[in-house]
Amino acid sequence: MHNVLVDGGIIRKLWVGETDKYRAHLMRLDKESRANRFGGGVADDFIENFVKLTFDLDAVLHGFFVDGTLRGVAELRALGHGFAEEAEVAFSIEKPWQSHGVGSALLERTLLAARNRGIKLLHMACLANNQRMIDLARKFEAELKFDFGSVVGEVEAPHPTPISVWREVVADTHGFATAMLDVQAKMLRPA
Ligand SMILES: CC(C)(COP(=O)(O)OP(=O)(O)OC[C@H]1O[C@@H](n2cnc3c(N)ncnc32)[C@H](O)[C@@H]1OP(=O)(O)O)[C@@H](O)C(=O)NCCC(=O)NCCS
Repeated sequence: MHNVLVDGGIIRKLWVGETDKYRAHLMRLDKESRANRFGGGVADDFIENFVKLTFDLDAVLHGFFVDGTLRGVAELRALGHGFAEEAEVAFSIEKPWQSHGVGSALLERTLLAARNRGIKLLHMACLANNQRMIDLARKFEAELKFDFGSVVGEVEAPHPTPISVWREVVADTHGFATAMLDVQAKMLRPA
């Protein structure tokens, strides 16, 4: 589990109250990455509304932080209500941190979260010509069966096990501790 250092940063869940960090990260995406993330060019206003909606809909967000700044996010959003078995996953990684294994580490964490929530089908919100995203998904073929025509993946071994739940709890505890250290470091920094 890549919990601590990935290319000089850490991966942890985003907590309620970190809306501003997510918005600022999405706004920093270059034009091409923004279009790939949202399936086409979108205006700043769209991102404003999108971020609010994401936190309202209880999405599971894993963030990649470098020196306390959010540089990448994997968003897992259940499709439907109640005990949904299908979800959508989408990634956004800022250009300087692309192709450094961050997407792979984020997908690993997201797959664990999906499995623990009983998700069986994962839709990758990606354009059919997004080769890097497809290559990334292919790396996880052992855990995820993909239909690359429509970019839909079936999560293998969909049932949570005590160990898979424990792995997520341990990763979250670690991430929470790191988040708290980050807050403390900011409070202690001279103004
Ligand atoms: C697509 C994206 C999520 C991939 O994440 P990433 O961190 O760049 O990818 P990784 O470094 O983990 O690489 C994953 C695989 O992609 C392929 N890959 C990575 N960089 C590549 C490059 N420059 N050229 C070709 N293939 C590449 C490799 O197969 C790699 O696996 P490997 O390192 O084991 O060989 C990321 O680039 C991104 O956020 N792009 C902008 C937004 C977007 O496209 N989102 C997806 C739709 S929601």
